[in-house]
Amino acid sequence: MTKRQSSQDPETMPYLNVLKKLKRLKPLEPSLGILGLFFVTACFICCFFYLDYRVVTRGFRFHGLSERFLFLGLDGSGEDKRVEFLGERGGLCDLFNGEWVWDETYPLYQSKDCRLLDEGFRCSENGRPDNFYTKWRWQPKDCNLPRFDANKMLEKLRNRRLVFVGDSIGRNQWESFLCMLSSGIPDKDSIYEVNGSPITKHKGFLVFKFKDFNCTVEYYRSPFLVPQSRAPAGAPKKVRTTLKLDQMDWTSVQWRDADVLVFNTGHWWNYEKTIRGGCYFQDGSEVKKDMSVESAYRRSIETVVDWIGSEVNTSKTHVFFRTYAPVHFRGGDWKTGGSCHLETLPDLGSFLVSSQTLARSNVVIDVLSERSNKSQVMELDLLNVTNMTSRRKDGHSSLYYMGPGGPAPLHRQDCSHWCLPGVPDAWNELLYALFLKWEASRTQNSTTHTQT
Ligand SMILES: *[C@@H]1O[C@H](CO)[C@@H](O)[C@H](O)[C@H]1NC(C)=O
Ligand SMILES: *[C@@H]1O[C@H](CO)[C@@H](O)[C@H](O)[C@H]1NC(C)=O
Ligand SMILES: *[C@@H]1O[C@H](CO)[C@@H](O)[C@H](O)[C@H]1NC(C)=O
Ligand SMILES: *[C@@H]1O[C@H](CO)[C@@H](O)[C@H](O)[C@H]1NC(C)=O
Ligand SMILES: *[C@@H]1O[C@H](CO)[C@@H](O)[C@H](O)[C@H]1NC(C)=O
Ligand SMILES: *[C@@H]1O[C@H](CO)[C@@H](O)[C@H](O)[C@H]1NC(C)=O
Repeated sequence: MTKRQSSQDPETMPYLNVLKKLKRLKPLEPSLGILGLFFVTACFICCFFYLDYRVVTRGFRFHGLSERFLFLGLDGSGEDKRVEFLGERGGLCDLFNGEWVWDETYPLYQSKDCRLLDEGFRCSENGRPDNFYTKWRWQPKDCNLPRFDANKMLEKLRNRRLVFVGDSIGRNQWESFLCMLSSGIPDKDSIYEVNGSPITKHKGFLVFKFKDFNCTVEYYRSPFLVPQSRAPAGAPKKVRTTLKLDQMDWTSVQWRDADVLVFNTGHWWNYEKTIRGGCYFQDGSEVKKDMSVESAYRRSIETVVDWIGSEVNTSKTHVFFRTYAPVHFRGGDWKTGGSCHLETLPDLGSFLVSSQTLARSNVVIDVLSERSNKSQVMELDLLNVTNMTSRRKDGHSSLYYMGPGGPAPLHRQDCSHWCLPGVPDAWNELLYALFLKWEASRTQNSTTHTQT
């Protein structure tokens, strides 16, 4: 044994020397060309010695040599491979910078297999002829997302509550999430609404329980996130209701302690849905008759963010804020005949995010960065979906939101909500990835002695 070892050592010297030289030169990184030349030379020398050694030692140590080449990074493969988001080096990847890619393995579920879907989102069953819009997957530029695994998510949600709070686009996302989760459960009867309510857009809140996991996935309707109530005594007659910009929605006591909170707002913050209907803004006891919708929106976001900072235990609750999801009415809006029913492909090239849409999502981003500046570090994950979603003009319900009764009239299109399966599934895959990442860092921090 020792004899054999020592007899080989002198003979291994030559190619080790070459490797040492290569290693020494590496920091200089002269150019790919020169490296290539070294590589070829090294190969030549190695082959020479390999053949030589085969004769003498039957390949002994060749394995070690190839490892050295890997170490030098000269193996030529794996150079431009994306990292896995959940891997060690994935943490810095911006999930929201990327592109939509065609993927035949999508969608993650079929609407006809999911009972937990409002009729309004069942486009394919409502007669939408194309299904391309179900086949796009979001691909971040610098990393790969994990594919959604319903059982893994349910296991993580065991004995926990996941709550969506927001407008009907939030409900859209919630129903998408319900279908994604229920695809992992063979016994569909083990999923039920705790009060026996049917899925309908007319309910203020709905709580679905996944019995085998003792977890609930809930939706609370709160389009403004701040409370809307009767005007205070003595307010001018035109003021019928007010939005109390300095308070959090009163249902918040019901979901403040949930394990995961997903907020969204934006679609109701316009003139039509507020001032025009006699709904003005109130800060403290004062009705601000001249306050613009934009400033009111900003003020409400500040209230929400401050409420999260002071009322939510962010060691326990994972908070998400989804940014505004753009609408795609062409040639009008929802009541003046705007349309999107001929869109069957995403915008894959250049495209514009409208300035109003940008303003909507930037308010949230601005307020958050302002606050995280003020020593109060915001423990919150932004679902920064505005840009990616703006490219999906093909994903809306358009004419196919009326149930099996037939398509809607051409001048009554829905270019705000999304067909399911569809675009909100991609938001939820991002939520899934961020949630797993958070969970992993949490278990790592709290347990030094065990794994998982
Ligand atoms: C959100 O995404 C947009 C577009 O991808 C990007 O310009 C912006 O910096 C992002 N904002 C944050 C806070 O991540
Ligand atoms: C079920 O989950 C709830 C929280 O959602 C928890 O309070 C309760 O203890 C759980 N029940 C069991 C039997 O673990
Ligand atoms: C916040 O949650 C953590 C984890 O569940 C818990 O240990 C801690 O006591 C909570 N803090 C407060 C103030 O309730
Ligand atoms: C927050 O940061 C901005 C610039 O990024 C700076 O102008 C401002 O003074 C900071 N505010 C506080 C409260 O630190
Ligand atoms: C959205 O992202 C694309 C691709 O990264 C970029 O070219 C475009 O400028 C972004 N648009 C906005 C409004 O941020
Ligand atoms: C875990 O610890 C790291 C650094 O020690 C910290 O950056 C991270 O925020 C922690 N994660 C949680 C969920 O507390």
